[in-house]
Amino acid sequence: GHSLEREICYLAAHSFFHLFGYDHMTDEDKRVMREKEKLVMKAMNLEGEFMTNDQLFERACKALEKAYVPYSGFRVGACLLDADGNAFDGCNFENASYGAAICAERCAVSNAIISGSRRFVAIAVAGEEVDAWPCGICRQVLSEFSQDMIVICGNACSREYAVKKLAELLPMNFGPAQLGKNG
Ligand code: THU
Repeated sequence: GHSLEREICYLAAHSFFHLFGYDHMTDEDKRVMREKEKLVMKAMNLEGEFMTNDQLFERACKALEKAYVPYSGFRVGACLLDADGNAFDGCNFENASYGAAICAERCAVSNAIISGSRRFVAIAVAGEEVDAWPCGICRQVLSEFSQDMIVICGNACSREYAVKKLAELLPMNFGPAQLGKNG
C-alpha cells in the first residue's frame, strides 16, 4: 500500500544502515535499526505522522487567506491529504468572466496532481463565516480519484466542522469504472 517512491527510499535507507553495520537479528537490534530508518524517512517527508482532521482543517482555514474573490467576496480554503501523508493547499480564485472561477477544492487537486500525487484520503474545506460544502463540479472532480475519501467541511469563524464520506455527497457517481478505467 505504499508509493513506489516511498518503497525505493525505504530500501535505500535499509541497505545503507546494513552497510554501516546495523542489523535486525535480535529484537533490540531491530528496534534500533527501525528507529534510524524512521528518522531518514521522516526527513525525506515520505513517512511520518498523518495529519489529524483538526490539523487538516486548520490548514484549509489558513489557505483561505490566499483566496482571490473580488466578485463574490466569498473566500474558501481547502487542504487535500494523500495516502503518503502529503498535504496540498488550495483557495478559490475568481475571474472577470465569472464562469471561469476555480473553487478551492479544484485548486488543491491541481496542486496535488502537478506534484505527482493522486491517492487522496481526505480533504478539508473551510468557508470564512459559513460552511463551504463542495459544489457539484468539485464533488465530481474529487470522485475521479477516490469515492472513499473523507470530506471535512466547516467555517473558519467557528472552527467547527462536519465529517462525511465523499460517497455520501455524491452517490452513484459516474466515474472511471463506467469507462472501463481504474482511475
Ligand atoms: N466556492 C469554492 O471555492 N468552494 C466551495 O465549496 C463552494 C464555492 C467558491 C466559488 C466562488 O469563487 C465562490 O465560492 C462563490 O461561489
